Amino acid sequence: MALASLPKIKGNFKGKDILSLDQFDIASLQKLFKLTKQMAEIAKKSKPSKLLAGNIVTLLFYEPSSRTFGSFAAAIKQLGGQTVEILDPQHFSSVYKGETFEDTIRVFEAYCDAIVIRHPQVGSAQAAADIASFAPIINAGDGPHEHPTQALLDLYTIYERFKKLDHLIGVVAGDMLYGRTVKSLIRGLALYKANTVYLLSPDKLRLSKEDFANFQKRHIKLIQIESEQDIPKNAHFWYWTRVQKERFTNLKDYEKVKNKFVLTPKLIKERAGAQTIFMHPLPRVGEISPKVDSNPRAVYLRSQIRNGMYIRMALLALILGKIRQ
Ligand code: NCD
Repeated sequence: MALASLPKIKGNFKGKDILSLDQFDIASLQKLFKLTKQMAEIAKKSKPSKLLAGNIVTLLFYEPSSRTFGSFAAAIKQLGGQTVEILDPQHFSSVYKGETFEDTIRVFEAYCDAIVIRHPQVGSAQAAADIASFAPIINAGDGPHEHPTQALLDLYTIYERFKKLDHLIGVVAGDMLYGRTVKSLIRGLALYKANTVYLLSPDKLRLSKEDFANFQKRHIKLIQIESEQDIPKNAHFWYWTRVQKERFTNLKDYEKVKNKFVLTPKLIKERAGAQTIFMHPLPRVGEISPKVDSNPRAVYLRSQIRNGMYIRMALLALILGKIRQ
């Protein structure tokens, strides 16, 4: 859908591109979460739903993906829809022969009802939306900028646990500079009242000044901390992230900052509260000790994964106009 500015959801998802958490409001999130709960029930039944029967969604992934790609594909199939799956188009599509981004979007749009795109460039999903004339575009990660559907599942996971998304205290650790999930999550949390997020990252991987200033203007308190010892003991969630190796031009710089902050049972014992849940968008590459996995409050390989599929089922059903809204 070609549109000059970000289309606000305002309770109506039908035909809309999903490019940023900035499109959302609390009521729209509530609507999505309510449907997500129903989708979980559908997914648990062995008989597939036919809600998306006759629909085809293209998954166009210029960057590697396990969960986002896999859960979108599974979500569509859970609802009886079908997929055109283009992984690594730089090698396995005509992009390899020099086809332009614009032509690629036009071609795949002709085959389907919506396009889910992941691309290394900031603004690529918006660019795809500007090119596409009817198919909604869903941003599955545009470089270090945003990853809205990840934030939706993260918010849902927090909401499921605490039954609220306001008055929360969170700790976000790792790569704030290049990590896109955190930026979408902060945008989402900033929609609600009285949330505080502590940011723990190596100096070189802090939020850019621009992002920090932009987020500070919103209804969210961001507190930069220097070490694990500054983690408040009453956090509702810890959200650990991977240092985004692929964004570094010099690997030596990556080696210097990787795994500076590792989530271990010892750290949990010292700094977590009795209610704190442990989250990670995954993949983890050393920043969470596998010894944490058996902690019942470690949700990264449990509800956070499953919720990814449920929320994408709900989102697609709404965007493709299968639910009255
Ligand atoms: C994240 C991503 O691709 O931004 N992964 C995901 O979608 N679950 C996080 C990451 O790659 O570190």
